Amino acid sequence: MRLDKFFSEMGLLSRKECAVAAKHGRITLDGKPVSRADVHIDPEKSTVTLDGERVGYEKYLYIMLDKPAGVLSATEDKRQTTVLDLLDDRRRKLELFPCGRLDKDTTGLLLMTNDGDLAHRLLSPRYHVEKTYAYTLRDPLLRADAERIAAGVDIGEKNITAPAKVESDGGNTGLITITEGKFHQIKRMFAAVGNEVTALRRVRFGGIDIDPELGPGGYRELSDIEIEILRKKAETV
Ligand code: URA
Repeated sequence: MRLDKFFSEMGLLSRKECAVAAKHGRITLDGKPVSRADVHIDPEKSTVTLDGERVGYEKYLYIMLDKPAGVLSATEDKRQTTVLDLLDDRRRKLELFPCGRLDKDTTGLLLMTNDGDLAHRLLSPRYHVEKTYAYTLRDPLLRADAERIAAGVDIGEKNITAPAKVESDGGNTGLITITEGKFHQIKRMFAAVGNEVTALRRVRFGGIDIDPELGPGGYRELSDIEIEILRKKAETV
């Protein structure tokens, strides 16, 4: 891979900036300064520094975002703020996209990545990846309704919903875990028993919990352990 491609893939320097930085002696390759941006490197093996700092190569990036209400789970929109707008300049350049969608008024854990293969598998119904939401309802949830939702309800699709886990506090709030991802699914499941969701927050996705330190709009990269957990979820069918 060319040095300038390496830097642009990492979102650190454009090709032009890389050429200028190389000319000014800001870049070293395996301990020696390079003066040209078109030299070839092995991104996995070469040691590259910029201004004395080692630049490690990461093919893919995985970000956990605590999506705030009022933001779209999209990569661009002419009028409204999208989850991509919440990221810093460097990360915004890396062609990240949200892994699945949360409604505009839903908050919580949204994974953003440029690993299309993993994202595709995490979203595929074949892998039954669990998503857990904290819900608030207009009316207290009757036990019989919780049981109906857990068994599967008719939300107007071809089939009833797959079995879900409902952990009700006996009143208006609780947790619900589903393995599907149909449009407005949780809202439609509660509507199917005559209730209404008034607030929804995703707290867990594929075995990863929302980091309570993030706060609305906060994000961080996933740890290696979290990435491994997601990969495992997406390898067993
Ligand atoms: N179910 C919904 O109804 N909305 C979401 O944002 C996610 C799941």
